[in-house]
Amino acid sequence: MTDLFAKCHGDGGYFGKFRKLGNKYYSQPVLEGPPDTRMTFRGKEVVMWAINNYLGLTGHEEIKAVARKSLEKWGTYSPMGSRLLTGNNPRHEEVEKKFADYLQKQHAILFNYGYLGVVGTITSLIGKNDQVLIDRLAHASMIDGAMLASVRGRKAIPFRHNDMNHLEELLKQTRRETDGGILIVTEGVYGMRGDIADLKGICELKEKYGARLFVDDAHGFGVVGSQGRGSADLLGVHDKVDLYFGTFAKAYAAIGGVMAGEYDPIEWVRYNARTNVFAKTLPMIYADVVARTMEIVRDGDHLRERMWTITRRLQDGLRELGYDLGDTVTPITPLYVPTGTEEEGAAMIALLRDKFGIFVSGVTAPVVPRGIILFRMIPTAAHTEEDVDRTLAAFKAMRDIMKLDLSLKPSRLNE
Ligand SMILES: Cc1ncc(COP(=O)(O)O)c(C=O)c1O
Repeated sequence: MTDLFAKCHGDGGYFGKFRKLGNKYYSQPVLEGPPDTRMTFRGKEVVMWAINNYLGLTGHEEIKAVARKSLEKWGTYSPMGSRLLTGNNPRHEEVEKKFADYLQKQHAILFNYGYLGVVGTITSLIGKNDQVLIDRLAHASMIDGAMLASVRGRKAIPFRHNDMNHLEELLKQTRRETDGGILIVTEGVYGMRGDIADLKGICELKEKYGARLFVDDAHGFGVVGSQGRGSADLLGVHDKVDLYFGTFAKAYAAIGGVMAGEYDPIEWVRYNARTNVFAKTLPMIYADVVARTMEIVRDGDHLRERMWTITRRLQDGLRELGYDLGDTVTPITPLYVPTGTEEEGAAMIALLRDKFGIFVSGVTAPVVPRGIILFRMIPTAAHTEEDVDRTLAAFKAMRDIMKLDLSLKPSRLNE
């Protein structure tokens, strides 16, 4: 007879090794101070490259003032209940209309978290005989939504990352096997790699095979496209995306999510997404905050320009040092670094944090193949040239101290 908790004492589980280490250093590092380009880690100031504050909106004084005013009006508790029962407020509807207009779609819905919005949307749309086809590298929220949807619908099938031939093969196969509906699920900007989904190719295929398209643009929303309208806008196919999804947790520096599309499917999700029906609604403070933030994002070309200035300086500098940044075409800056052993990977993180005061996230197996460490950096509009130059000096020193062989181009192993 096995005790259910037996596993909890070992180092099993997805991130079990890190949990067991429990050192608050590699995982759950304790960071002090409000999220910004400089934070305190273990009593020492570090340059922060690990938060998705693309437009530098954390700590924005005007947004803080909106939140204070909203707090006075609504308290910390409003609304009480889910949208369907007692949590609907005219302000929610007004803000949804604002987002629908901005995103140039008929209708929009707010969610209390991006993750819950994604899971709820995918599961609510998939019924018996319906099929999810999902990019293999899509975020956990989409994978979880697709897995849950498989309980009622057909088993979700992953397609190779951005591989239109594979997607077409699967569409053909699905059409042979069922006359049910098909939902293609992808990120817009890929949050770990910084590349963009081939949304043009996907839109052609979805039309050819009568499928629908869900784009989670967590990392493109506010960041790319005209007025920050996102990756499909950038690629000229925004009007073809059936369900465009953005989270407020990244460029908006807030909490919550929004999805825009045609009236009926949005209303379907509102009434059928269990994460919406059986959970408390986005708090009023955030409804007020994201409404104002949207205007700042929409009118924020100067912020996007600044973000790109910093991005180019950082990415060009790292490439000149010989680092492999894979296929990124966005501010997301992944550094694929070969590590002989896991200890070497850990030593690199320690060197950057403790010796040079540079804080980057380090991602290891199972997220990336063994033998690679992925340092992911997010340059923002708030970083300075000095932050970049200090960081480049640190990466140069690390390359030399660790005697890194950067000719290996390990990003190719990540396909
Ligand atoms: C692609 C993607 N989708 C969804 C989410 C979840 O969003 P939220 O933090 O708003 O729940 C994230 C956040 O990491 C993400 O990167």
